[in-house]
Amino acid sequence: MPDLSFPPLDVSAPDRVAALLDRLTLDEKISLLHGDDPEGDSLGEAGHVRGVPRLGIPALRLADGPVGPRLTARATALPAPVALAATFSPELAESFGGVIGHEARALGQDVLLSPMVNQIRTPYGGRNFETFSEDPLLCADLVTAEIRGIQAQGTIATVKHLAANNQEHRRTSVDATVDEQTLREMDLPGFEAAVRAGVGSVMAAYNSVNGAFSCENADLLTTLLRDEWGFTGFVMSDWWATHSVGPSLLAGLDMEMPTGEYFGIRLKKAVLDGDVPEDYVDRAVRRVLTVMDRFGLLDGSAPSRPARDATAGARATQEIAIAAAVLLRNDRGALPLTGHGARSLAVIGLSGAVPFVSGGGSSHVIPDSATSPVDAIRHRAGEDASVTYALGADYFGKPVPDAALSPAASFDRTGPDALAPDDSWTYEGTLTVDEDDEWTFVVHWSQRDEFGPVTRPGIALDGTDLFPELPDLEELFAGGLTGTTPDGLRTRSITVPLAAGAHSLSVDARGGADGLNFRLQHLTSATRASDTAEAVRAARSADSVVLFAWQDTTEGEDLGTLALPAAQNELIAAVAAANPRTVVVLNSSTCVTMPWLDDVAAVLQMWYSGQQGAEATAALLFGDEAPGGKLPLTFPADENSHPVAGDPDSYPGVDDKVTYKEGIHVGYRWYDAHDVTPLFPFGHGLSYTEFAYGDLRTTPVGLGFDVSFTVRNTGSRRGTEVAQVYVGPAERLELPQAVRALAAYQRLSLEPGEVQQVVLHVGRRQLSSWSAATHRWLHGSGERDVAVGSSSRDLRLHGSVVVPEHE
Ligand code: BGC
Repeated sequence: MPDLSFPPLDVSAPDRVAALLDRLTLDEKISLLHGDDPEGDSLGEAGHVRGVPRLGIPALRLADGPVGPRLTARATALPAPVALAATFSPELAESFGGVIGHEARALGQDVLLSPMVNQIRTPYGGRNFETFSEDPLLCADLVTAEIRGIQAQGTIATVKHLAANNQEHRRTSVDATVDEQTLREMDLPGFEAAVRAGVGSVMAAYNSVNGAFSCENADLLTTLLRDEWGFTGFVMSDWWATHSVGPSLLAGLDMEMPTGEYFGIRLKKAVLDGDVPEDYVDRAVRRVLTVMDRFGLLDGSAPSRPARDATAGARATQEIAIAAAVLLRNDRGALPLTGHGARSLAVIGLSGAVPFVSGGGSSHVIPDSATSPVDAIRHRAGEDASVTYALGADYFGKPVPDAALSPAASFDRTGPDALAPDDSWTYEGTLTVDEDDEWTFVVHWSQRDEFGPVTRPGIALDGTDLFPELPDLEELFAGGLTGTTPDGLRTRSITVPLAAGAHSLSVDARGGADGLNFRLQHLTSATRASDTAEAVRAARSADSVVLFAWQDTTEGEDLGTLALPAAQNELIAAVAAANPRTVVVLNSSTCVTMPWLDDVAAVLQMWYSGQQGAEATAALLFGDEAPGGKLPLTFPADENSHPVAGDPDSYPGVDDKVTYKEGIHVGYRWYDAHDVTPLFPFGHGLSYTEFAYGDLRTTPVGLGFDVSFTVRNTGSRRGTEVAQVYVGPAERLELPQAVRALAAYQRLSLEPGEVQQVVLHVGRRQLSSWSAATHRWLHGSGERDVAVGSSSRDLRLHGSVVVPEHE
């Protein structure tokens, strides 16, 4: 162990905690500082801390995550947090938190590993769906409200992942090199707001920040979190993200998750050897117990666990999914569907049949239920309507034709044909193809359970393994649309060029301890063409088309492209050419490119909309509800025109170092600073009605100002608008500043003709910049531009204000 110097500590604690600390043995103290195995008593939670029954300290159960408790039991699966962000509604964030907090308590959990608040920095981020926005104010507001909602239910919230966990690519080893001003103004405001909201715990990230692992980063965990922000809760590591004993404890890490590799026997030895003062163990224990005490877990004063309320959960989920919908395009009022267009419909696309409930990874929740969107559309369209369905672009593949195999064989060993435990099945033969083509091989196989061992079948083509060993961690990452087949099997696919002629094919499938379901499927140019042709036929024979397009993302890996996968771009182009009344419903985590945009009538962004997504989508398509969400992130025009394009140092990093070269110009700030036109700007979202803005007034108040304006619904339908206030830079601050930054916003619903006067306050923080020279916020007093509008690029009112220097 390096020679560390541990300064003396003030070990005072609340009475009950101090009394416990006096009585706890060193072993007992250490047992409170790391995860362990719940010994057959697991509900599937991600983390478990053994209690000390002798002293009435109960065990702690810690469950993921951001869309509800991820357990072996069913729970309400809420929409992805990025969808929540699209509501621009702290009220809905609070009710979202209320639902997941209630569910967690009802399902035996004490700590929720939620919310994630890392800023969306790169469009490729695999977890963009799990977090909120590219704008720090929106992140801060929503995290505050969500934590309030979670903790009001008696569940301890965990804000994660401190800090700069803005990408999944090499997330456990990458060092985020980010200057002080950028870190303070961009990724940190969400964490700061969480601390101010009283969050019980903080999860330190996998990655390093400016050269030090987050889990042993004293600048983050002590100087910032404790000394400056006054955090009194406990800090846990991300899963297997702890790297040391002394340096981590000294830096301010209190709990290692999910095991005690460092904070178990090694910590005990370090204390006994005199390398770590026991006071530091006490400090960490005190922090854990203080939070437990605050939530009534030490004296039995916590309210008894409530029953689940699946109905209320579903209701809130649907309300949020509706409020999150962003109408990106609506040419000549294509939506809502009315008249013939609502009675003669072709529904096309995989996520039109299989509901896209949530993304992949640790946030995946087993939903109570989820309706297929085409069923919800049929239900809403009514019995007299004609609603056809076509897959359009297959993902899971078709059986390999018998005629191509010698000897002939069925590669479907599922259901009654599944392999029994320890059974094995092998195939050695040839696959003959008639012409040069690209073949996609799709393997489906079942695993024992999400955490259990997977018996991966071996499949070799011309002697080369098509699916080489998968990394262990990937086995955790169920969820998403394409990670699992509709009948519940794990799946992977690979596309390879195949020359005309015979190819050797071998399969080696083994039943293992649990038996095995196994399938090998395929896709070729011919199968793709026939799927497209079927979709085009369906599109031609219907009055209007609702085409569901998807982009799947998961924790653990970033996206390689912003293009829609699985030939969906070609499908949309073909369908739109056959029927111009094509509405694209998008289920995506982050931005996608849309080469077909001008050819389709409408695009409705539904994100990953949770277990009520189908009902929400149908209600919006038919106009029972109106879309009122706004983009919490910018959509670039193409893959070369966004803040981290074309520079590997900036993203995905070189030699495990990623440099935040865009500085404070994250997201829309970059597009504005470089005058780049996006596909859809931050804050964009249309309505089924129109809004007019007027009467801008600004009034200096305190160290900020009030801004007032009117919004009028000038159309003939009820509608929802999110009015947005942006401020320009302060001349007196010689620091990088945004051309315009979101400073306030208000979601409002207006009846036709209704006018609402909106008054919003822009506070001091929104007018300040962080000075790395003086290590403090500098107030941007003096004249500032103020603009109000419907998106960051649709600004309807312009004015200015003189921000006072002194109150
Ligand atoms: C994720 C965390 C999650 C934890 C427990 C980690 O891989 O980064 O967000 O809470 O696993 O499942």
